Amino acid sequence: ALVSLRQLLDYAAEHGFGIPAFNISNMEQVQAIMQAADACDSPVIMQGSAGANRYAGEVFLRHLIMATVEQYPHIPVVMHRDHAPSPDICAQAIQSGFSSVMMDGSLLEDMKTPASFDYNVDVTRTVVKMAHACGVSVEGEIGCLGSLENKTGQATNRLLTDPEEAVEFVEQTQVDALAVAIGTSHGAYKFSKPPTGEVLVISRLRELQQRLPNTHFVMHGSSSVPQDWLKVINEYGGDIPQTYGVPVNEIVEGIKYGVRKVNIDTDLRMASTGAIRRYIADPTNASELDSRKIYQSARDAMQALCQSRYEAFGSAGHA
Ligand code: G3H
Ligand code: 13P
Ligand code: NA
Ligand code: ZN
Repeated sequence: ALVSLRQLLDYAAEHGFGIPAFNISNMEQVQAIMQAADACDSPVIMQGSAGANRYAGEVFLRHLIMATVEQYPHIPVVMHRDHAPSPDICAQAIQSGFSSVMMDGSLLEDMKTPASFDYNVDVTRTVVKMAHACGVSVEGEIGCLGSLENKTGQATNRLLTDPEEAVEFVEQTQVDALAVAIGTSHGAYKFSKPPTGEVLVISRLRELQQRLPNTHFVMHGSSSVPQDWLKVINEYGGDIPQTYGVPVNEIVEGIKYGVRKVNIDTDLRMASTGAIRRYIADPTNASELDSRKIYQSARDAMQALCQSRYEAFGSAGHA
């Protein structure tokens, strides 16, 4: 059944688990996410970005998700719009049936320029009023998402969500979930050295949770950049520089301090790219013309990855 983000995260908080929120762009991805959820009995969050809309079209994304609701009626599914740049875009998503939207007012509409706190409060509050009237949840974001690598002192501090601001933001906007900056960044290139010790600033997260015990936190940029898939990609013709992501065990630590929604896009891209490269390079597949076999290899790889995240974050068994 389609559920709102709020319903699902309230339940997750009650039971102390986190849920991966997977970005989607195509059918194989959606099926991998659902087959894994079905196998381990996990609720599901699927989210569409602006890039996904450009790739598949909003209508196809929406119907792919609605197909899962029909096919898996026993699994709670959240249909979420990731990083909407304006209240207008949020309104469109609500209108078309999304059960949750992210108003990213941490940036101006160009999605590049950092926005003022007042602008962020203003646009987010507008969206909350509109969304809540329709039973739709809202995720807001404050802070500047970015890897803290090679940054120290003041610079570091500016990249972390300020607890004082977070409290004020939640009070003024009444968002259902808050994306916080605690050291992650989007994409595959988060850290250039293997993580030794903590890459997340868990101390900041703890502080945020003490101040906002009833707020659900969202962690963007939560791909772990699996080293085995990186190796597979490069073994079969890829040329991806050495890079590292957020270790799964640190995400699990974050879940102890209020992280409920864990955004993952890059990891599924890596698993599918690796699986496809490997399948095509395999000489025993040289005479294969049924391209479904290629997609199947990607779907299997993504399914395994999804299932391991459901299990690690504790959502398995909670559908
Ligand atoms: O916010 C992040 C997602 O990874 C979006 O990526 O715009 O390339 O679909 P995309
Ligand atoms: P990754 O690039 O780490 O997968 O993060 C995705 C994300 O945060 C989407 O909003
Ligand atoms: Na931001
Ligand atoms: Zn994001």
